[in-house]
Amino acid sequence: MSTASKTTWNPATYLEFAGYRARPAADLLAHVDIKIPGAIYDLGCGPGNLTRQLKDRWPARAVIGTDSSAEMLAKAKQSYAGVDIAWQLSDIATWQPEVPPAMVFTNAALQWVPDHDTLFPRLMAAVAPGGVFAMQMPTTADAPYHAIIKQLLSRSPWRERLANVQYHPHPAPAQHYYDLVCALAARVDTWETSYHHVLKDTAAVTVWVSGTALVPYLTALDENEKAAFLADYTDIAATLYPPRADGKVLFTMRRLFMIAERKA
Ligand SMILES: C[S@@+](CC[C@H](N)C(=O)[O-])C[C@H]1O[C@@H](n2cnc3c(N)ncnc32)[C@H](O)[C@@H]1O
Repeated sequence: MSTASKTTWNPATYLEFAGYRARPAADLLAHVDIKIPGAIYDLGCGPGNLTRQLKDRWPARAVIGTDSSAEMLAKAKQSYAGVDIAWQLSDIATWQPEVPPAMVFTNAALQWVPDHDTLFPRLMAAVAPGGVFAMQMPTTADAPYHAIIKQLLSRSPWRERLANVQYHPHPAPAQHYYDLVCALAARVDTWETSYHHVLKDTAAVTVWVSGTALVPYLTALDENEKAAFLADYTDIAATLYPPRADGKVLFTMRRLFMIAERKA
């Protein structure tokens, strides 16, 4: 089951680092080329900033942003009320387009969706022949910000309090995803990049992660518990993200990209 369908996303927290979060999306977009007519879907569109960029780049195409979070979609609709974009509440795990689109685009969302071995071939197959499947997701397996969560979940009271929270498995290596899509692909472009985001202090790491990876845990806690959990998170973050020479912190995120063109 998708954790995201039960969690409450906060668009304001997510948008706090919008500039940094936009960078990998821009890198993905910069390498995409669509050769056939048809619509564009932005799966897990969140607050809609990227969906807007897709519409700006391909104004003549139908652009549809989908998300399983009503809060995120409300923010997207409000921000881009005058823009010709359709917004749909839907879960990527079960999403199927009525007409195969020219592009399925998804940025920083697939890590929240389970069963990639089924999902990736299905998304690839959903694209029209000659179309594109373009995705980016963080590769979290060795990330310190996930190691902190693991440490917290191994001790009281969080072990007991958060025992029922389901979390998505870490994404697999690039080679695995290549194998999942190559049968239907005419061409696959895949790469990984580490982004070293300069944050003002350790507390900013906690704020960043509270807008994404911590969302399922925070959703399960009351306000007092949330504050205690975030304080514990920051304590451990201080050791795994030590201050640099100027007191700032380098928050590193490694991200996997894939652009697969479907056989015509
Ligand atoms: C990290 S945000 C990325 C938002 C946007 N794509 C961007 O790059 O700014 C992840 C988004 O994926 C959505 N999401 C998570 N699981 C989902 C699912 N199973 N189906 C649809 N959307 C999902 C969340 O609601 C959230 O808006």
